[in-house]
Amino acid sequence: MALARSVGALLRPSDWVALMGELGAGKTVFVKGMAEVLHLEGVPRSPTFAIVQVHRPKKGGIPLRHVDLYRLAPTEIPALEWEELHEDTGVTVVEWAEKCQYLWPTQCLPIRISHQGNDARLVEFYVAGSRSEEIVRRLKGTK
Ligand SMILES: Nc1ncnc2c1ncn2[C@@H]1O[C@H](COP(=O)(O)OP(=O)(O)OP(=O)(O)O)[C@@H](O)[C@H]1O
Ligand SMILES: [Mg+2]
Repeated sequence: MALARSVGALLRPSDWVALMGELGAGKTVFVKGMAEVLHLEGVPRSPTFAIVQVHRPKKGGIPLRHVDLYRLAPTEIPALEWEELHEDTGVTVVEWAEKCQYLWPTQCLPIRISHQGNDARLVEFYVAGSRSEEIVRRLKGTK
């Protein structure tokens, strides 16, 4: 949660976060941490039926588009529209982003969360474009 809050604090409109990792790795927990600092109405949760959940901001916040591709079969993913996968005025975060790598924007922030036994997790940040480089550099600077 603390790491996710640090990432959330660096995000700005049109940033696109690709979250990867197995079942229960902590992707939704990460979205919740990011959401806390984006000042949203409502708390992101694991969607039961919805593929896309849009969270409006409170005053001074940034909207968040939370996409979870878990339930989509690989053949269904190409049918997703650009508008479903992007939030121009806010941040987009996609769980199970590994299922749609060919749809990632050239500028995005890929993050992989892996189980390391019990409650330990490895969180890896990748660079995909100059914006992600900037976020990772600033993230290192805050620690
Ligand atoms: N260090 C940790 N970071 C994140 N979650 C942790 C950690 N340790 C334990 N957990 C627990 O692991 C679970 C992670 O669940 P979460 O729903 O975030 O995973 P997910 O990757 O979104 O799974 P799914 O693929 O089902 O969407 C939660 O129950 C959380 O409390
Ligand atoms: Mg989840």
